[in-house]
Amino acid sequence: MASISQMKDPLYVGKAIRAQLEHEIPKDLPLEKDFREGSDYTITDHVHDLHKSLCTDTRTLELVTALIDALHTFARKTKPTHAEWIKAVSLLTRAGQQSTPEVNQFVLLSDCLGLSVLLDELEHPKPPGCTEGCEPGPFFIDDVPEIPSGGSLATSETVGEKLFFEGSVKNVEGEVIPGAVVNVWQADGDGFYDVNSEVPSATNDRGKIKTLEDGSFSYRGILPTAYPIPSQGPVGEMLRALGRHSHRSAHLHFHITAPGYDDLTTALYPSHSPFLGTDPVFATKKSLICDLEQDRNADNWKRMGFSDDEVQEIGKTSGRVWLWRYNFVLPSVEAVKEFKERANLA
Ligand code: BEZ
Ligand code: FE
Repeated sequence: MASISQMKDPLYVGKAIRAQLEHEIPKDLPLEKDFREGSDYTITDHVHDLHKSLCTDTRTLELVTALIDALHTFARKTKPTHAEWIKAVSLLTRAGQQSTPEVNQFVLLSDCLGLSVLLDELEHPKPPGCTEGCEPGPFFIDDVPEIPSGGSLATSETVGEKLFFEGSVKNVEGEVIPGAVVNVWQADGDGFYDVNSEVPSATNDRGKIKTLEDGSFSYRGILPTAYPIPSQGPVGEMLRALGRHSHRSAHLHFHITAPGYDDLTTALYPSHSPFLGTDPVFATKKSLICDLEQDRNADNWKRMGFSDDEVQEIGKTSGRVWLWRYNFVLPSVEAVKEFKERANLA
């Protein structure tokens, strides 16, 4: 093992390292074992041993050790050529270069590999009877205007057929949760969110609604349509190489919070939407798919809160309002904690 004076000797160590050593002397270790593929002490063992000797943060050690195991197992199983490795590195390099504050290609990669949904399931497992979750996607905004239950999420300019959403928030015991904050965001009838609209608009198709005393909430809005995730970049390239498409089924996003309950991030999908079985981000869980109804009675539209002008307009155009109902069930923070502990023990 090298001594400190050897580490500082210009005969052995170049300028850049000597400049660093002015500030910190790294711990060196004797190289005790040869490591060789096919022997009983491989490079994987050596990397682990090195980290075990040097890393003092237990969680970092746990994460990096498991990651190295997975990467080395992958390499041994698939034996990528240097050219294939370069191709993968180039994809990741471009993912970094082409990431913007609006579209982070690495998050998109995680979404399209099913990792985001898996991570959400691991951090927020749902005990039986609770509404399933899924990842939020890139268009979630926490700081949005509050609208009263029954109000409108859309403006008179919003493109698309009218929708009336009626929901409730309860716990697993069936007790209502008043005052839960329901943040809803969705695309319009052309498949655009306000933040990626062809014509940039003010806040639209999103808002926070508080549940009423009986745990219910409702809003007037627009029937969402399917839209593509960003596919011009490296992630789009990967999808095409895999024979996949970038189209997300129509959906409504929800982020629901209430004191004492585990936050729920989820989305609901109309059963009439195409692409449910081939979602690019694997978020179309069966229990989140809803059958919608169509209400063709103008008196009902008025009761839903549509204005006289809107009622006339609906009558002249689609002749219907889409009815979408869903009852959300939240687990308590305590129940999720117990559920995780039991899953860890199993
Ligand atoms: C979305 O649902 O809005 C979405 C989810 C993942 C990636 C891109 C978009
Ligand atoms: Fe979305």
